[in-house]
Amino acid sequence: MARITSGVGVSHVPAIGRAIDTGQTQTPYWKPLFDGFEFSRAWEEAEKPDVIFLVYNDHATAFSLDFIPTFAIGCADSFEVADEGFGPRPVPRVEGCPDLAWHIASSVIQQDFDLTVVNKMDVDHGLTVPMSLMFGQPERWPCRVIPFAVNVVLYPVPSGRRCYALGKAIRRAIESFDEDLNVQIWGTGGMSHQLQGPRAGLINQPWDQAFLRDIAVDPLRLAAIPPEEYIREAGSEGIELVMWLIMRGALNEKVEVLHQHYRVPASNTAVGHIILKQA
Ligand code: DHB
Ligand code: FE
Repeated sequence: MARITSGVGVSHVPAIGRAIDTGQTQTPYWKPLFDGFEFSRAWEEAEKPDVIFLVYNDHATAFSLDFIPTFAIGCADSFEVADEGFGPRPVPRVEGCPDLAWHIASSVIQQDFDLTVVNKMDVDHGLTVPMSLMFGQPERWPCRVIPFAVNVVLYPVPSGRRCYALGKAIRRAIESFDEDLNVQIWGTGGMSHQLQGPRAGLINQPWDQAFLRDIAVDPLRLAAIPPEEYIREAGSEGIELVMWLIMRGALNEKVEVLHQHYRVPASNTAVGHIILKQA
C-alpha cells in the first residue's frame, strides 16, 4: 500500500527562486536562509520519496480572477513551469502521478470534499520554490508530484479547520492506494507576510514561532484559528499557512520534529520550514 512517511512545511518566496537561479545563495543576505535547508536536501536524498503530494497556492497564474477553485488536484501526466512575467524559471517540468491523483480525487470526493480535477495547469513559484529548496538544482526532479492548489488569494478562503479535516481525508485516500509508494505530503507558503496596503512588510515573529512549535505538538489549536486572525496577526498573505494544516492533518497525532528553520526576512516574508516524521 502507499504510505505517508513524513510531512514538510516550507515557505515559497519567489525571490528565493531568483537567488537560486542566479547563483546568489552564498551572498551574505541569502546564505543564512539556504544554510537552513542543507539538512533537508541531504535528508531528501536519503529518503528517496516516490511521490510528493504538494499542497500549494497558485498566485493568479494558472487561475485568473475569472475562475478560482477552492481545492484543485492536478491529475495530469506532467505540469509545465509557469511564466510569471519574466519567463519560466529554469527548473525541470514536474512529472505527475495520474493514477494516484485520480484515486485521491475519487476517494476524497466520496468523503464529501469537493475537489476540482485539473488536467492541465502550469505551476508557479508556490510549487517550484519549495521543490528547489528541498531538491536543489537537478536536471530532472527525483520524484513525481501531485500538485494540490488551495485558494488563499480570493476571499472566501477555506478555514484551517476544514484544511485539517481535508488532510485526514487525503491520508485515507493515499493509504487505500494499492501500490507500494513512499509518499510525502508538503504544506507550503507563509509564514507571516503582507505584500500590500498600509501594513505591507508586516512580520510577526512570536506568532510564527508559536505556529512552528504547535504545528508539531498542538495542531488542533492552529486548526481553530479563524482566517481573520491570520490576517490580523500574520498579515494578509499569512493566510497561506492554512495549507500547512492540510499537511499536518494527514500525519499521525504524534510526530517527530526532524528539523526546523526560521529566517527573517527573505524578500517581504518570514521563512519557516519544518520536517515532521511519522512517530
Ligand atoms: C513574496 C511572498 C510570497 O508568498 C509571494 O507569493 C510573493 C512574494 C515576497 O515576500 O516577496
Ligand atoms: Fe505566496
